[in-house]
Amino acid sequence: MSELTKNAGAEAAPKKVFIKTWGCQMNVYDSMRMGDALEAEGYAPTQDMDDADLVLLNTCHIRERAAEKVYSHLGRIRQLKKRRADTDRPLTIGVMGCVAQAEGEEIIKREQAVDLVVGPQTYHRIGEVVRASKTGPQVITDYAVEDKFEHMPLATKRQITARGVTAFLTVQEGCDKFCTFCVVPYTRGAEVSRPRAQILTEARALVDAGVREITLLGQNVNAWHGDSRTGTVMGLGDLLRELAEVRGIARLRYVTSHPKDMSNDLIEAHRDLPTLMPYLHLPVQAGSDRVLKAMNRSHTAAHYLDIIARVRKVRPDMAISGDFIVGFPGETDADFEETLKIVEATNYASCFSFKYSKRPGTPGAEMADQVAEEVKSERLLRLQGLLNEQQLAFNAGCIGKTVDVLLEKPGRHEDQLIGRSPWLQSVIVPSSVGAIGDIVSVTIDAAHANSLSAMPVGPINAEEAAA
Ligand code: SAH
Ligand code: SF4
Ligand code: F3S
Repeated sequence: MSELTKNAGAEAAPKKVFIKTWGCQMNVYDSMRMGDALEAEGYAPTQDMDDADLVLLNTCHIRERAAEKVYSHLGRIRQLKKRRADTDRPLTIGVMGCVAQAEGEEIIKREQAVDLVVGPQTYHRIGEVVRASKTGPQVITDYAVEDKFEHMPLATKRQITARGVTAFLTVQEGCDKFCTFCVVPYTRGAEVSRPRAQILTEARALVDAGVREITLLGQNVNAWHGDSRTGTVMGLGDLLRELAEVRGIARLRYVTSHPKDMSNDLIEAHRDLPTLMPYLHLPVQAGSDRVLKAMNRSHTAAHYLDIIARVRKVRPDMAISGDFIVGFPGETDADFEETLKIVEATNYASCFSFKYSKRPGTPGAEMADQVAEEVKSERLLRLQGLLNEQQLAFNAGCIGKTVDVLLEKPGRHEDQLIGRSPWLQSVIVPSSVGAIGDIVSVTIDAAHANSLSAMPVGPINAEEAAA
């Protein structure tokens, strides 16, 4: 039970908000910040939609059927709204996120039960928009001129602690790269970096509330830049160096990077900072230079492999992950073979792969030579077969190694905890090894497709230590 609920006592029950989140980690972060802002307005969070006064759908537009999913969800919520219409708890419905930005007013035209539509750039106005929606539907999709982060309350210590020992922190938002398949530049707007001081303040608040690991987020996180304390321009490598100095931060990660912005300084940060985890998510999307050009990726396969080699030179144990799209318009069998080749050459620890999905308004959607659905499916199957093999081999390679695991949450069984290795693998450990928030050294004794299990480093060592 939240404190708000407790404090309300026998008086009027506090209002409750249910937020459903689709999409990337930034949407997860945004949902938390919206929840925090709404709590300050008197809305307690609930996990039960039927118990909510306000339902927010935080949506993703990246692949097809995203909007359809939202509409079918809205159909169901409309029924709940109808049932509540004549009660003292009428329901307010909001659509947020990237579908909200892309579809705007269309949403209310198609689904009149919706009270508010708010794009990702205007979350900071959520409280005011919810209030205004009592008098009529609200659609807010303009790009805010003010810095939304300046206008949102920092999460309280209680809110942060409730979320555990790892946290996201958005440092950069938006994208100017305009890959020809992608909607993000249209839904998240131009690339913007949050100022260094704001990021440090938020990081300190997270650590004060018990967070041990911070993942910096951005659609192009390695394009982050800002002014240093002395007014010089700094990049993500410098920011990581400063964050590594914040007392209490045990682990730092960042996601997602673009090959074009992978500076030497950032690569060297992996050499210099023990708190920066040896894990790099660097999507390449395809292995054929012809396809990469048509995708407007502004790098070649060779350029990508060169970055991977340089990263591994400074940090030989670096785990590489990525994203792939199969069946981009014009992709031939020969092009696809190049994708398999770059996968072979990189040797991924984990990867995401998708069938190309036509997005309205993007250049890719207008291109000739769209690839047949069954060809896409066939290619995806082959690609995922290879990627799964690599992931399993990477995990199996950990057996027998002693690794540091940050304990994050209870496991399925009472005597288990689940943590993460430096390479972002889930590790199941006996709960006797430590408490949530501890970083413990354990020996990996089994590897599975999506997790590892581990034993204490060994009773012999413990006895020796006690002797
Ligand atoms: N900013 C990140 C990725 C953002 S979207 C980057 O530049 O890498 C996450 C992933 O979704 C992309 O890397 C891509 O692999 C996939 N994706 C984006 N648009 C897509 C589309 N139209 N069809 C299929 N997959 C897509
Ligand atoms: Fe989309 Fe490309 Fe920007 Fe990534 S870099 S968000 S894939 S346009
Ligand atoms: Fe989806 Fe928007 Fe993230 S389209 S992937 S929620 S930036």
